[in-house]
Order: sequence, then C-alpha cells, then structure tokens
Amino acid sequence: MRLFKKKRDIQGFITDLHDKKQEIGFVPTMGALHAGHISLVQAARQQSDFTVCSIFVNPTQFNDPRDLEKYPRTIEKDLQLLEQQGCDAVFYPDVAEVYPSGTTHPPHYELGQLEYILEGKYRPGHFQGVADVVSRLFYTVDPDHVFFGRKDLQQCKVIEQLIALNPDFNRIRMHTVPTLREADGLAMSSRNTRLSPGELQKAPAIYQTLNYLKAQLAPGDLTPLLDEARQRLISEGFRPDYISIAQTDTLEECMYWDGQTPVTALIAAFLGPVRLIDNMELYPG
Ligand code: PAJ
Repeated sequence: MRLFKKKRDIQGFITDLHDKKQEIGFVPTMGALHAGHISLVQAARQQSDFTVCSIFVNPTQFNDPRDLEKYPRTIEKDLQLLEQQGCDAVFYPDVAEVYPSGTTHPPHYELGQLEYILEGKYRPGHFQGVADVVSRLFYTVDPDHVFFGRKDLQQCKVIEQLIALNPDFNRIRMHTVPTLREADGLAMSSRNTRLSPGELQKAPAIYQTLNYLKAQLAPGDLTPLLDEARQRLISEGFRPDYISIAQTDTLEECMYWDGQTPVTALIAAFLGPVRLIDNMELYPG
C-alpha cells in the first residue's frame, strides 16, 4: 500500500494510473476507522481498479472546537487495517497541505436548503466545511468513483449536489453504501469510542426509536408520533437535537404523510458528551 502526504506526489501517481486507463475508487474519511469505513473500502475495491482512502480530520467542518480536539486519532492502527483490507493507497495530508492559504476565507458552495435544515441547522457552517474539503480532495485524487455512507444521509445529498454543480466533477460516479451497525443496532461511528460502558448500553435506543417510527408510521399528522419518539429518547437520558421525518429525496421535513411519498426518519441526539446521528428509510423499505 502506498502512503502519500503531499498533493503533488499523489497527483503524479494518479495521472499515471489514468494514462493506463485504471479506474480510481475514492473513500474520504477522518480516520479512527471501523468496520463501517471498511465496508466503503470493500465497495470501492469491487467497483474500481485502484482504491484510494484519505485520512484527514478536517478542521473547517467542526463547528464545536471541543469536538475537533476530542476527535479520536488512531493513524497507525488505521494504516494497518487499510493494508490488511487491500486498500491500494492512502492520502494522509496535514492541514497546511490541504489549506495552503489558511482556513479563514473559505469559498461559498451553493447547497440550497440542505445547508440550513437538520444537521445544517444544528451545526452552522458544517456542510460548507464538508463541501470545501471534499472538493479539494476530489481535485487532488481525481477519482472515477466515490463512496459515502448512508449513515450521513444529508452529507450524501451535499456531495451529490457538489458533483452535479461542478462540471469538473460531472464524470464522478457517486456510490451510497448502507449503514453498518453493531449487533445491538448502534450505527458504527468513530465517536462511539468516546461513550462510557453505561452510555454504550443505552446508545442502541436511537436505532430502536427509528424502528418504532417505522412500525408506527401511518398516513396523517406525524406530530404525535414524533412527540412520542422524543419522549422515549429523553427518558433514556438522551438530549435530542432533532427527530424528524423527511422526504427521502430532498430531506424536506414532512409533518403530514400522504401514505405514498418516500420518507426517512433522521435523529441527532447527545448521549453524555457525544452527539450521535442515525437515519432509517421508513417508506418504502
Ligand atoms: P467520517 O466520519 O470518517 O466518515 C467517512 C465515511 O464513512 C463517510 O462517508 C461516512 O458516511 C461513512 N460511515 C461512517 N460510519 C458508517 C457506518 N456505520 N456505515 C457505513 N458508512 C459509514 O464523513 C466524514 O468522515 C467526513 O465528513 C468526510 C466526508 C471525510 C469529509 O471530511
């Protein structure tokens, strides 16, 4: 497995691969890798000739400085895991390499209402940071296929928009990979390592609540159902930011369901110091 820390080195390497008509699959990550990340790497290996993974904890997408400071970093273990899993190259730049002119004047990306709803509402600036770093990474890695997890559904929509709006990215094929869960239903996440043993026992309540919403969904006003779901999470010790049922294609909030529109439930809630997010397609599915 090749390890690159400099843009110009990986760019030269990738240009050679393109000349040889190799298709590049790309998995961007912030490291602290778990089986969910690895499922993206496996999907990339199946779809492409050469798989690149990036590991970069992007400062511009953290709206909470403490979250950035506490973000787990396990680079040696990550590199070992990627090597074992047959990843071909890793891009592991430092902050100055990705942001040579600093992070203070980021460009503005047109993300429409995605920027202001759900995660965007509770993490102002987060998706601008994601769009900026992913766009820089796309220019550097020049991939044919990119792989993102459905666990971050709103992020997937942001990336689809980024690809659609920039002619330089139009040839990139986006692949959305299902959420990998622990046996108890907890969605795998790098942040789970910051949960105490007691919190880890409670954490699957998010998945249980999503299942509850799916089982109870019926045409009509959704407010009582969402209130009930909120109460369940609060009684388990969570502090919910949002519990929402939204149209699956736009993520626009759905307060009244017609019984036909595809809808997805999305939850973000704090458990102790850790903010967890998850989602589940309610209908169809
Ligand atoms: P990170 O949180 O490290 O996640 C990297 C990728 O792994 C994302 O596409 C995410 O959706 C996916 N992923 C995380 N948990 C998963 C799970 N349980 N099952 C399947 N896929 C999962 O998302 C980011 O990093 C950053 O925002 C990034 C895109 C790298 C930009 O900085």
